[in-house]
Amino acid sequence: MIEIRNVSKRYAKGNLAVNNISFDVPSGEIFGFLGPNGAGKTTTIKMIVGLLEQNQGHILVNGIDTLEEPLKVKEQIAYVPDNPVLYERLRGTEYLAFVADMFRMAPEVRDAKINEYATMFNLRNDLQDMIGTYSHGMQQKLALIAALIHEPDVFILDEPMVGLDPKSSFSLKEHMRARCEEGKTVFFSTHVLDVAERICDRIAIINKGKIIAIGTMDELRENHEGTLEKMFLELTQ
Ligand SMILES: Nc1ncnc2c1ncn2[C@@H]1O[C@H](COP(=O)(O)OP(=O)(O)OP(=O)(O)O)[C@@H](O)[C@H]1O
Ligand SMILES: [Mg+2]
Repeated sequence: MIEIRNVSKRYAKGNLAVNNISFDVPSGEIFGFLGPNGAGKTTTIKMIVGLLEQNQGHILVNGIDTLEEPLKVKEQIAYVPDNPVLYERLRGTEYLAFVADMFRMAPEVRDAKINEYATMFNLRNDLQDMIGTYSHGMQQKLALIAALIHEPDVFILDEPMVGLDPKSSFSLKEHMRARCEEGKTVFFSTHVLDVAERICDRIAIINKGKIIAIGTMDELRENHEGTLEKMFLELTQ
């Protein structure tokens, strides 16, 4: 569960990137976070995962305040950034072992998980190679595996489908759905509106730092006709 209460963020220069937003993402839900470029999605996500501090308001992850107990929050979450920066001179296996060790995973559990996720994303044959030789999509898959490996409770993914081939993107969506059915929480940003429309239980649209629409697809349709794309274009023009 993620609770966002009256959160604002202003960067050193400029206007409010996030302007007094409040909403909850309950457990068991896939929540899609949509909005035009520069709307405030990544800023919000970085505050949830503890990479940025808000100027105002509170964020709770499973009841834990991100500013009060940042490490405890990090233990609960998987985070995939919009542009994962990986260690180019490590092999895929070395990077995953490093991440798993940070989460204090037992080596046999770690190896089983690496195997499971590398198979899911079709990356097993590449894990012995240096990360610097990976394609964009392969790096994205490695970042996803590194985030999923410790079986967290809350998944925070910033445009996770970008760069993934159709099969990997499908596997990720199936995985997200299965984790939600176990009562976990998935929060992800995307520009792919038909994916959001199909897989999200609820959606929020942020524009210029403010939440301008939130609800299930049915709830959003009460005020706007047509597809999510049409609704999005109308609301954000
Ligand atoms: N490090 C930064 N310093 C100053 N301003 C920033 C910084 N990062 C983002 N901003 C500003 O904050 C606003 C929100 O940016 P943010 O990255 O959150 O948007 P976004 O919704 O993730 O966009 P996109 O869809 O392009 O990823 C923008 O006006 C942007 O210029
Ligand atoms: Mg962004």
